[in-house]
Amino acid sequence: MTNGLTLRQQLDRYAGPDSLRRAVADVVAAFAEAAIAIADLTGRGALAGITGQVQGRNPDGDMQKDLDVRADQIIRASMKGLPVAALASEEAIDVDILDPSAPISVAVDPLDGSSNINTNMTVGTILSIVPTPADIRATFMQPGTAQLAACFVVYGPQTALILTLGDGVDVFTLDRDTGSFRLTAATVKIPADTAEFAINMSNRRHWEIPVQAYIDDCMAGVDGERGRDFNMRWIGSMVAEAFRILTRGGIFLYPADAREGYGEGRLRLVYEAQPMAFIMEQADGAASTGRTRLMEIAPKALHQRVPLVMGSRDKVRRLERMYTNPNVKPENAPLFSHRGLFRI
Ligand code: AHG
Ligand code: MN
Ligand code: MN
Repeated sequence: MTNGLTLRQQLDRYAGPDSLRRAVADVVAAFAEAAIAIADLTGRGALAGITGQVQGRNPDGDMQKDLDVRADQIIRASMKGLPVAALASEEAIDVDILDPSAPISVAVDPLDGSSNINTNMTVGTILSIVPTPADIRATFMQPGTAQLAACFVVYGPQTALILTLGDGVDVFTLDRDTGSFRLTAATVKIPADTAEFAINMSNRRHWEIPVQAYIDDCMAGVDGERGRDFNMRWIGSMVAEAFRILTRGGIFLYPADAREGYGEGRLRLVYEAQPMAFIMEQADGAASTGRTRLMEIAPKALHQRVPLVMGSRDKVRRLERMYTNPNVKPENAPLFSHRGLFRI
């Protein structure tokens, strides 16, 4: 199944004599070390002074908790002295310029799922590595297809690191005895035929009709269009949902909705959606806004949000078809229809 390689060994194999690849490998290795420190903090919780208390607000107006701030500091410190030109973080308004001559740049979500911190649920950290363009100001305006690597770490019962270097997706598990990540699943593929969806159902009334129609079909189960029952999960940590999808398939949606400030959904393009999209595609899955392949979107602003639908390829394609299907109208969606669940 796997050969138990350490992450470092795997990165050395990938890098070889190539200097750009060496830069990517060194940054991933440093990110992994930072993640081990964050895993230690999340694991120790209150013992390490982590309260989950709100400290302020980040550039996007989200509440910022103590672990958001500590994780951001740990990641920043880990990038010092590495060949990184620019660093973007969810927790800082502006890009930080480190070594402008460096060939690569990084974008991070230091702590994903931070509303879960004080409930002892899974959180994580996300990394995207891009080439530094000639005009450094355009670094984080490149489409997702420009990414050289994407990675996320899940601090769950196990600490797992999921990595793509552009040639498949590998999963490494933290070996707490040696303090190193070991390969535990190589070249993972998202199962195509699954019956599980993840969405925050409490927002249903605010979604666009194609999303309502898609989820309503799932909810209708064996009695509906799909002819099978579905299962639902919502953890509130995209990293945990993504790990589950890589393990047993399914679909995750954080669509645009009609609430104020949610016109482009909730998740941020540069350091949440783009790296997830890269990993999903590299695992034979897909990622979309519902209308557009996510990897093809070029960000216009650093903290821009984007609707995100990701997971098993067939499921994502089906949702996309809802957006182009002329029959998907309010009167035809099951929960709206005269014969529907609420109108009997
Ligand atoms: P972050 O903690 O970095 O702000 O991201 C949280 C995200 C994501 O992980 C999760 O899927 C989503 O926000 C949860 O949103 P709701 O609370 O609206 O369900
Ligand atoms: Mn996040
Ligand atoms: Mn975050």
